[in-house]
Amino acid sequence: MHLQTIRVHLGQRGYPIKVGSGVIASVGQELSGLSGTSVVAVITVEGIRRLYGTAVEGSIASSGIRPVVIEVPDREGAKTIQTYAEVMGELLAARAGKDALIVSLGGGCVGDLAGFVAATYMRGVRLVHLPTTLLAQVDSSIGGKAALNLPGGKNSIGAFWQPCLVLSDVDVLKTLPQREVRCGLAELIKYGAIMDIRLFEFIEREKGRLNALEREATLRAISAAARLKAKLVSVDEREAKGLRTLLNFGHTVGHAIEAAMEYRGYSHGEAISVGMVAETRLARLLGLCSDDEAERLERIIESYGLPKRLEGVSKEAIVDLMWHDKKVEGGRLKFALPNGLGRGIVVADPPTGTVAKALEGVVGD
Ligand SMILES: NC(=O)c1ccc[n+]([C@@H]2O[C@H](COP(=O)([O-])OP(=O)(O)OC[C@H]3O[C@@H](n4cnc5c(N)ncnc54)[C@H](O)[C@@H]3O)[C@@H](O)[C@H]2O)c1
Ligand SMILES: [Zn+2]
Repeated sequence: MHLQTIRVHLGQRGYPIKVGSGVIASVGQELSGLSGTSVVAVITVEGIRRLYGTAVEGSIASSGIRPVVIEVPDREGAKTIQTYAEVMGELLAARAGKDALIVSLGGGCVGDLAGFVAATYMRGVRLVHLPTTLLAQVDSSIGGKAALNLPGGKNSIGAFWQPCLVLSDVDVLKTLPQREVRCGLAELIKYGAIMDIRLFEFIEREKGRLNALEREATLRAISAAARLKAKLVSVDEREAKGLRTLLNFGHTVGHAIEAAMEYRGYSHGEAISVGMVAETRLARLLGLCSDDEAERLERIIESYGLPKRLEGVSKEAIVDLMWHDKKVEGGRLKFALPNGLGRGIVVADPPTGTVAKALEGVVGD
Protein backbone atom coordinates (compact mmCIF):
# COMPACT_ATOMS: atom_id res chain seq x y z
CA MET A 1 0.00 0.00 0.00
CA HIS A 2 1.50 3.35 -1.08
CA LEU A 3 0.62 6.22 1.18
CA GLN A 4 1.30 9.93 1.23
CA THR A 5 0.17 12.06 4.13
CA ILE A 6 -0.57 15.74 3.68
CA ARG A 7 -1.66 17.91 6.60
CA VAL A 8 -4.18 20.70 6.75
CA HIS A 9 -2.83 23.00 9.46
CA LEU A 10 -5.73 24.47 11.36
CA GLY A 11 -4.65 24.03 14.96
CA GLN A 12 -7.04 21.74 16.78
CA ARG A 13 -9.19 21.47 13.68
CA GLY A 14 -6.24 20.35 11.54
CA TYR A 15 -6.28 16.91 9.91
CA PRO A 16 -4.37 14.52 7.68
CA ILE A 17 -5.22 13.75 4.07
CA LYS A 18 -3.93 10.28 3.25
CA VAL A 19 -3.57 9.57 -0.45
CA GLY A 20 -2.68 6.10 -1.59
CA SER A 21 -3.52 2.88 -3.32
CA GLY A 22 -5.67 0.40 -1.41
CA VAL A 23 -6.27 2.79 1.50
CA ILE A 24 -10.03 2.37 1.52
CA ALA A 25 -9.66 -1.07 3.07
CA SER A 26 -7.69 0.42 5.96
CA VAL A 27 -10.44 2.77 7.08
CA GLY A 28 -11.30 0.63 10.12
CA GLN A 29 -7.71 0.72 11.30
CA GLU A 30 -7.62 4.49 10.80
CA LEU A 31 -10.84 4.94 12.75
CA SER A 32 -9.59 2.96 15.70
CA GLY A 33 -7.41 6.00 16.39
CA LEU A 34 -10.58 8.10 16.72
CA SER A 35 -11.72 6.67 20.00
CA GLY A 36 -15.00 7.08 21.86
CA THR A 37 -17.40 6.53 19.00
CA SER A 38 -20.63 4.62 19.55
CA VAL A 39 -22.24 4.95 16.12
CA VAL A 40 -20.43 5.11 12.79
CA ALA A 41 -22.76 6.10 9.95
CA VAL A 42 -21.60 5.61 6.36
CA ILE A 43 -23.43 7.91 3.95
CA THR A 44 -23.22 6.70 0.36
CA VAL A 45 -25.22 5.98 -2.80
CA GLU A 46 -26.38 2.58 -3.96
CA GLY A 47 -23.99 2.23 -6.92
CA ILE A 48 -20.92 3.09 -4.87
CA ARG A 49 -22.00 0.81 -2.04
CA ARG A 50 -22.24 -2.03 -4.54
CA LEU A 51 -18.65 -1.39 -5.61
CA TYR A 52 -16.93 -0.51 -2.34
CA GLY A 53 -19.42 -1.10 0.47
CA THR A 54 -18.14 -4.55 1.38
CA ALA A 55 -14.54 -3.35 1.76
CA VAL A 56 -15.45 -0.24 3.74
CA GLU A 57 -18.15 -1.75 5.96
CA GLY A 58 -16.02 -4.85 6.60
CA SER A 59 -13.01 -2.76 7.54
CA ILE A 60 -15.02 -0.56 9.92
CA ALA A 61 -16.68 -3.63 11.47
CA SER A 62 -13.25 -5.15 12.09
CA SER A 63 -12.43 -2.14 14.25
CA GLY A 64 -15.24 -3.23 16.57
CA ILE A 65 -18.20 -1.09 15.46
CA ARG A 66 -20.75 -2.29 12.93
CA PRO A 67 -21.54 0.74 10.78
CA VAL A 68 -25.01 2.01 10.01
CA VAL A 69 -25.23 2.54 6.24
CA ILE A 70 -27.44 5.33 4.91
CA GLU A 71 -28.05 5.30 1.17
CA VAL A 72 -29.00 8.60 -0.47
CA PRO A 73 -30.01 9.57 -4.03
CA ASP A 74 -27.17 9.99 -6.52
CA ARG A 75 -25.63 13.23 -7.75
CA GLU A 76 -27.32 16.52 -6.78
CA GLY A 77 -30.27 14.48 -5.45
CA ALA A 78 -28.07 13.94 -2.38
CA LYS A 79 -27.90 17.67 -1.71
CA THR A 80 -31.60 18.41 -1.14
CA ILE A 81 -33.29 19.49 2.07
CA GLN A 82 -35.50 16.40 1.82
CA THR A 83 -32.53 14.01 1.67
CA TYR A 84 -30.89 15.93 4.51
CA ALA A 85 -34.01 15.60 6.68
CA GLU A 86 -34.22 11.87 5.97
CA VAL A 87 -30.57 11.29 6.88
CA MET A 88 -30.98 13.24 10.14
CA GLY A 89 -34.02 11.07 10.94
CA GLU A 90 -32.06 7.89 10.29
CA LEU A 91 -29.26 9.03 12.58
CA LEU A 92 -31.75 9.70 15.33
CA ALA A 93 -33.38 6.31 14.77
CA ALA A 94 -29.94 4.69 15.05
CA ARG A 95 -29.53 6.48 18.42
CA ALA A 96 -26.49 8.34 17.21
CA GLY A 97 -25.31 10.78 19.86
CA LYS A 98 -22.75 13.58 20.10
CA ASP A 99 -20.00 11.00 19.78
CA ALA A 100 -21.23 9.72 16.42
CA LEU A 101 -18.92 9.63 13.44
CA ILE A 102 -20.10 10.30 9.90
CA VAL A 103 -18.21 8.69 7.02
CA SER A 104 -18.91 9.91 3.50
CA LEU A 105 -18.25 7.35 0.77
CA GLY A 106 -18.76 8.93 -2.63
CA GLY A 107 -18.16 11.94 -4.83
CA GLY A 108 -18.52 15.62 -4.05
CA CYS A 109 -22.31 15.42 -3.77
CA VAL A 110 -22.28 12.78 -1.04
CA GLY A 111 -19.39 14.63 0.63
CA ASP A 112 -21.19 17.98 0.63
CA LEU A 113 -24.33 16.42 2.13
CA ALA A 114 -22.41 14.36 4.70
CA GLY A 115 -20.45 17.46 5.66
CA PHE A 116 -23.61 19.44 6.28
CA VAL A 117 -25.12 16.57 8.24
CA ALA A 118 -21.96 16.33 10.38
CA ALA A 119 -21.91 20.10 10.90
CA THR A 120 -25.46 20.19 12.19
CA TYR A 121 -26.37 16.85 13.77
CA MET A 122 -26.36 17.44 17.53
CA ARG A 123 -24.60 20.76 16.75
CA GLY A 124 -21.70 18.95 15.14
CA VAL A 125 -20.19 15.48 15.08
CA ARG A 126 -16.97 14.07 13.63
CA LEU A 127 -16.60 13.54 9.90
CA VAL A 128 -14.35 11.37 7.72
CA HIS A 129 -14.31 11.66 3.94
CA LEU A 130 -13.65 8.71 1.65
CA PRO A 131 -13.82 10.58 -1.69
CA THR A 132 -14.40 8.33 -4.69
CA THR A 133 -14.24 10.76 -7.63
CA LEU A 134 -11.13 12.50 -8.87
CA LEU A 135 -12.87 15.85 -8.31
CA ALA A 136 -13.65 14.98 -4.71
CA GLN A 137 -10.09 13.77 -4.08
CA VAL A 138 -8.42 16.91 -5.41
CA ASP A 139 -10.99 19.44 -4.34
CA SER A 140 -14.26 18.96 -2.49
CA SER A 141 -13.12 16.62 0.31
CA ILE A 142 -10.51 19.14 1.46
CA GLY A 143 -11.34 22.41 3.13
CA GLY A 144 -14.57 21.86 5.01
CA LYS A 145 -17.12 23.47 2.72
CA ALA A 146 -20.41 21.62 3.15
CA ALA A 147 -23.54 22.46 1.20
CA LEU A 148 -27.10 21.73 0.16
CA ASN A 149 -28.95 23.22 -2.81
CA LEU A 150 -32.17 25.20 -2.78
CA PRO A 151 -34.49 24.83 -5.80
CA GLY A 152 -33.28 28.19 -7.12
CA GLY A 153 -29.75 28.18 -5.81
CA LYS A 154 -26.85 25.76 -5.92
CA ASN A 155 -24.95 25.50 -2.61
CA SER A 156 -27.25 28.15 -1.08
CA ILE A 157 -27.28 26.39 2.28
CA GLY A 158 -23.97 25.57 3.82
CA ALA A 159 -21.44 25.52 6.58
CA PHE A 160 -17.74 25.23 7.17
CA TRP A 161 -17.08 21.95 8.92
CA GLN A 162 -13.67 20.35 8.67
CA PRO A 163 -13.34 16.56 8.54
CA CYS A 164 -10.94 14.89 10.96
CA LEU A 165 -9.53 12.65 8.24
CA VAL A 166 -9.61 12.33 4.44
CA LEU A 167 -8.67 8.99 2.87
CA SER A 168 -8.22 9.15 -0.90
CA ASP A 169 -7.83 5.82 -2.62
CA VAL A 170 -6.58 6.09 -6.18
CA ASP A 171 -7.72 2.53 -6.97
CA VAL A 172 -11.42 3.38 -6.73
CA LEU A 173 -11.06 5.77 -9.67
CA LYS A 174 -10.82 2.73 -11.98
CA THR A 175 -14.61 2.40 -12.01
CA LEU A 176 -15.26 6.10 -12.54
CA PRO A 177 -16.97 6.94 -15.86
CA GLN A 178 -14.58 8.66 -18.29
CA ARG A 179 -16.58 11.88 -18.26
CA GLU A 180 -16.19 12.13 -14.47
CA VAL A 181 -12.46 11.47 -14.81
CA ARG A 182 -12.23 14.38 -17.22
CA CYS A 183 -14.04 16.61 -14.71
CA GLY A 184 -11.30 15.94 -12.19
CA LEU A 185 -8.59 16.41 -14.82
CA ALA A 186 -10.01 19.87 -15.58
CA GLU A 187 -9.62 20.78 -11.89
CA LEU A 188 -6.07 19.41 -11.93
CA ILE A 189 -5.24 21.62 -14.92
CA LYS A 190 -6.70 24.51 -12.93
CA TYR A 191 -4.35 23.89 -9.98
CA GLY A 192 -1.35 23.71 -12.28
CA ALA A 193 -2.24 26.81 -14.27
CA ILE A 194 -2.98 29.03 -11.28
CA MET A 195 -0.57 27.74 -8.65
CA ASP A 196 2.10 25.33 -9.78
CA ILE A 197 3.93 25.33 -13.10
CA ARG A 198 5.61 22.01 -12.28
CA LEU A 199 2.23 20.35 -11.85
CA PHE A 200 1.09 21.98 -15.11
CA GLU A 201 4.11 20.59 -16.94
CA PHE A 202 3.60 17.18 -15.38
CA ILE A 203 -0.01 17.12 -16.62
CA GLU A 204 1.16 18.24 -20.06
CA ARG A 205 3.81 15.55 -20.21
CA GLU A 206 1.90 12.64 -18.69
CA LYS A 207 -1.30 12.86 -20.70
CA GLY A 208 -1.26 9.17 -21.63
CA ARG A 209 -0.61 7.93 -18.12
CA LEU A 210 -3.08 10.32 -16.46
CA ASN A 211 -5.85 9.63 -18.95
CA ALA A 212 -5.36 5.93 -18.30
CA LEU A 213 -5.30 6.62 -14.53
CA GLU A 214 -1.95 4.88 -14.26
CA ARG A 215 -1.35 4.49 -10.55
CA GLU A 216 1.96 6.27 -9.92
CA ALA A 217 1.17 9.25 -12.15
CA THR A 218 -2.33 9.66 -10.75
CA LEU A 219 -1.11 9.41 -7.17
CA ARG A 220 1.47 12.05 -7.84
CA ALA A 221 -1.05 14.44 -9.42
CA ILE A 222 -3.65 13.94 -6.67
CA SER A 223 -1.08 14.46 -3.92
CA ALA A 224 0.23 17.61 -5.59
CA ALA A 225 -3.26 19.09 -5.92
CA ALA A 226 -4.26 18.05 -2.39
CA ARG A 227 -1.09 19.71 -1.07
CA LEU A 228 -1.95 22.96 -2.88
CA LYS A 229 -5.51 22.99 -1.60
CA ALA A 230 -4.40 22.09 1.93
CA LYS A 231 -1.96 25.00 1.84
CA LEU A 232 -4.62 27.51 0.80
CA VAL A 233 -7.13 26.20 3.34
CA SER A 234 -4.51 26.32 6.08
CA VAL A 235 -3.95 30.05 5.53
CA ASP A 236 -7.45 31.11 4.47
CA GLU A 237 -9.97 28.65 5.88
CA ARG A 238 -13.03 30.82 5.34
CA GLU A 239 -11.99 32.54 2.15
CA ALA A 240 -11.59 35.81 4.03
CA LYS A 241 -8.14 36.72 2.72
CA GLY A 242 -8.82 36.11 -0.95
CA LEU A 243 -6.26 33.30 -1.17
CA ARG A 244 -8.75 30.45 -1.43
CA THR A 245 -10.41 32.56 -4.13
CA LEU A 246 -7.54 31.60 -6.46
CA LEU A 247 -9.20 28.22 -6.86
CA ASN A 248 -12.02 29.97 -8.68
CA PHE A 249 -9.95 30.18 -11.85
CA GLY A 250 -12.29 29.25 -14.70
CA HIS A 251 -15.24 29.23 -12.34
CA THR A 252 -16.59 32.80 -12.71
CA VAL A 253 -17.35 32.11 -16.37
CA GLY A 254 -17.79 28.37 -15.71
CA HIS A 255 -20.57 28.85 -13.14
CA ALA A 256 -22.37 31.23 -15.51
CA ILE A 257 -22.14 28.56 -18.24
CA GLU A 258 -23.56 25.90 -15.91
CA ALA A 259 -26.43 28.21 -14.95
CA ALA A 260 -27.09 29.13 -18.61
CA MET A 261 -27.26 25.41 -19.43
CA GLU A 262 -29.52 24.87 -16.39
CA TYR A 263 -27.00 22.31 -15.09
CA ARG A 264 -27.82 19.91 -17.92
CA GLY A 265 -25.84 18.67 -20.87
CA TYR A 266 -22.57 20.15 -19.73
CA SER A 267 -20.56 18.78 -16.84
CA HIS A 268 -18.85 21.03 -14.30
CA GLY A 269 -15.44 20.10 -15.70
CA GLU A 270 -16.53 20.98 -19.23
CA ALA A 271 -17.97 24.31 -18.09
CA ILE A 272 -14.81 25.31 -16.23
CA SER A 273 -12.64 24.24 -19.17
CA VAL A 274 -14.42 26.76 -21.37
CA GLY A 275 -14.25 29.14 -18.40
CA MET A 276 -10.47 28.73 -18.11
CA VAL A 277 -10.05 29.48 -21.82
CA ALA A 278 -12.18 32.65 -21.56
CA GLU A 279 -10.53 33.80 -18.34
CA THR A 280 -7.03 33.20 -19.73
CA ARG A 281 -7.97 35.33 -22.71
CA LEU A 282 -9.07 37.97 -20.21
CA ALA A 283 -5.71 37.66 -18.45
CA ARG A 284 -3.99 38.11 -21.79
CA LEU A 285 -6.06 41.21 -22.59
CA LEU A 286 -5.17 42.61 -19.17
CA GLY A 287 -1.49 42.02 -19.86
CA LEU A 288 -1.15 39.30 -17.23
CA CYS A 289 -0.04 36.54 -19.55
CA SER A 290 1.40 36.13 -23.01
CA ASP A 291 -0.12 34.78 -26.22
CA ASP A 292 2.13 31.73 -25.89
CA GLU A 293 0.89 31.00 -22.38
CA ALA A 294 -2.75 31.38 -23.40
CA GLU A 295 -2.19 29.01 -26.32
CA ARG A 296 -0.45 26.51 -24.08
CA LEU A 297 -3.44 26.49 -21.73
CA GLU A 298 -5.79 25.92 -24.66
CA ARG A 299 -3.59 23.09 -25.95
CA ILE A 300 -3.59 21.21 -22.66
CA ILE A 301 -7.37 21.51 -22.37
CA GLU A 302 -7.82 20.21 -25.90
CA SER A 303 -5.35 17.38 -25.38
CA TYR A 304 -7.46 16.02 -22.52
CA GLY A 305 -10.58 16.00 -24.69
CA LEU A 306 -12.08 18.95 -22.82
CA PRO A 307 -14.00 21.68 -24.66
CA LYS A 308 -12.46 25.07 -25.47
CA ARG A 309 -15.61 26.77 -26.61
CA LEU A 310 -19.35 26.61 -26.18
CA GLU A 311 -21.93 27.22 -28.85
CA GLY A 312 -25.62 27.84 -28.45
CA VAL A 313 -25.36 30.20 -25.47
CA SER A 314 -24.92 33.90 -26.12
CA LYS A 315 -22.09 35.97 -24.78
CA GLU A 316 -24.65 38.40 -23.36
CA ALA A 317 -26.37 35.63 -21.39
CA ILE A 318 -23.06 34.66 -19.78
CA VAL A 319 -22.26 38.29 -18.91
CA ASP A 320 -25.75 38.74 -17.40
CA LEU A 321 -25.38 35.60 -15.30
CA MET A 322 -21.98 36.66 -14.00
CA TRP A 323 -23.44 40.02 -12.93
CA HIS A 324 -26.37 38.26 -11.34
CA ASP A 325 -23.98 36.13 -9.27
CA LYS A 326 -22.10 39.23 -8.27
CA LYS A 327 -25.32 40.86 -7.01
CA VAL A 328 -26.35 37.72 -5.18
CA GLU A 329 -23.01 37.63 -3.40
CA GLY A 330 -23.28 41.35 -2.70
CA GLY A 331 -19.71 41.84 -3.85
CA ARG A 332 -17.55 42.69 -6.77
CA LEU A 333 -17.16 40.67 -9.96
CA LYS A 334 -13.97 38.79 -9.20
CA PHE A 335 -11.81 36.71 -11.48
CA ALA A 336 -8.95 34.47 -10.41
CA LEU A 337 -6.57 34.80 -13.34
CA PRO A 338 -3.23 33.33 -14.34
CA ASN A 339 -0.48 35.87 -13.77
CA GLY A 340 1.88 34.01 -16.05
CA LEU A 341 1.28 30.26 -16.04
CA GLY A 342 1.65 28.65 -12.62
CA ARG A 343 0.86 31.82 -10.68
CA GLY A 344 -2.46 33.46 -9.96
CA ILE A 345 -3.93 36.81 -9.07
CA VAL A 346 -7.46 37.89 -8.13
CA VAL A 347 -8.77 40.77 -10.22
CA ALA A 348 -11.94 42.62 -9.21
CA ASP A 349 -14.23 44.42 -11.63
CA PRO A 350 -12.18 44.39 -14.83
CA PRO A 351 -13.57 46.69 -17.56
CA THR A 352 -16.86 45.35 -18.92
CA GLY A 353 -15.71 45.76 -22.52
CA THR A 354 -12.60 43.67 -21.85
CA VAL A 355 -14.67 40.88 -20.29
CA ALA A 356 -16.97 40.87 -23.34
CA LYS A 357 -13.96 40.77 -25.65
CA ALA A 358 -12.47 37.82 -23.75
CA LEU A 359 -15.69 35.88 -24.31
CA GLU A 360 -15.66 36.52 -28.06
CA GLY A 361 -15.08 33.32 -29.98
CA VAL A 362 -15.28 31.28 -26.77
CA VAL A 363 -19.01 31.40 -26.13
CA GLY A 364 -21.72 32.20 -28.66
CA ASP A 365 -22.02 31.34 -32.33
N1 LIG B 1 -17.22 21.33 -0.91
C1 LIG B 1 -16.42 21.78 -1.84
O1 LIG B 1 -15.40 22.45 -1.56
C2 LIG B 1 -16.73 21.48 -3.27
C3 LIG B 1 -15.78 21.74 -4.26
C4 LIG B 1 -16.07 21.38 -5.57
C5 LIG B 1 -17.28 20.78 -5.88
N2 LIG B 1 -18.19 20.55 -4.88
C6 LIG B 1 -19.48 19.88 -5.16
O2 LIG B 1 -19.20 18.55 -5.58
C7 LIG B 1 -20.31 18.10 -6.39
C8 LIG B 1 -19.77 17.34 -7.57
O3 LIG B 1 -19.01 16.25 -7.14
P1 LIG B 1 -18.51 15.10 -8.13
O4 LIG B 1 -18.00 15.71 -9.37
O5 LIG B 1 -17.65 14.21 -7.33
O6 LIG B 1 -19.86 14.38 -8.58
P2 LIG B 1 -20.84 13.29 -7.92
O7 LIG B 1 -20.65 13.20 -6.46
O8 LIG B 1 -22.20 13.58 -8.42
O9 LIG B 1 -20.32 11.93 -8.59
C9 LIG B 1 -20.41 11.77 -9.98
C10 LIG B 1 -20.94 10.39 -10.37
O10 LIG B 1 -19.92 9.42 -10.21
C11 LIG B 1 -20.39 8.32 -9.44
N3 LIG B 1 -19.23 7.78 -8.76
C12 LIG B 1 -18.57 8.34 -7.72
N4 LIG B 1 -17.48 7.64 -7.44
C13 LIG B 1 -17.45 6.57 -8.28
C14 LIG B 1 -16.56 5.50 -8.49
N5 LIG B 1 -15.42 5.39 -7.79
N6 LIG B 1 -16.87 4.60 -9.44
C15 LIG B 1 -17.98 4.74 -10.21
N7 LIG B 1 -18.84 5.74 -10.08
C16 LIG B 1 -18.58 6.66 -9.13
C17 LIG B 1 -21.44 8.94 -8.56
O11 LIG B 1 -22.32 7.98 -8.05
C18 LIG B 1 -22.10 9.91 -9.52
O12 LIG B 1 -23.04 9.25 -10.33
C19 LIG B 1 -21.11 19.34 -6.75
O13 LIG B 1 -22.33 19.34 -6.05
C20 LIG B 1 -20.25 20.50 -6.29
O14 LIG B 1 -21.01 21.61 -5.87
C21 LIG B 1 -17.93 20.89 -3.60
ZN1 LIG C 1 -14.76 23.26 -9.71
